[in-house]
Amino acid sequence: MINAKLLQRMVDASDDGIVVAEQEGDDTILIYVNSAFERLTGYSSNEILYQDCRFLQNGERDEPALRLIRQAIASGQPCRQRLRNYRKDGTPFWNELSITPVYNDTDKLTYFIGIQKDVTEQVEAQQRVAELQRQLGEARARILALENDQRR
Ligand SMILES: Cc1cc2nc3c(=O)[nH]c(=O)nc-3n(C[C@H](O)[C@H](O)[C@H](O)COP(=O)(O)O)c2cc1C
Repeated sequence: MINAKLLQRMVDASDDGIVVAEQEGDDTILIYVNSAFERLTGYSSNEILYQDCRFLQNGERDEPALRLIRQAIASGQPCRQRLRNYRKDGTPFWNELSITPVYNDTDKLTYFIGIQKDVTEQVEAQQRVAELQRQLGEARARILALENDQRR
């Protein structure tokens, strides 16, 4: 078993955001965020500790992913969803968020570990491919129509 200090250094060396939250009423409030979370979001830990992570959504509340995240937290199930979040300076990024409940026998409380991965490049590349496929489909249809006109 590695000691707590070394574990802390490992978690802080991670390139993905790692946070721990605990349930408080309807909220799950942050009690720990690592350095990568601060870099990813632009918020320092003092600014956001004891708040629910929904401040990253900038009021964008109709994401289908949110309903699934809510359900998973309420039923104590792990989940992984992609959703759009915003940095402190307002720039958007795609967050592949994984949330896992961790039950602590000592204080009989459920904690949640959250891992935030910035997948903006992948999502934008996928959106670009989808757009190019759409344009290709249109171009093909136009060529076909021209060929049919010429045959007549
Ligand atoms: C450990 C943990 C980490 C979370 N990380 C994020 C996050 O990075 N971005 C985000 O938009 N929501 C995050 N959430 C989800 C929100 O805190 C909240 O559960 C979600 O917005 C759904 O609940 P609501 O509809 O009451 O806001 C996280 C939740 C937990 C428990």
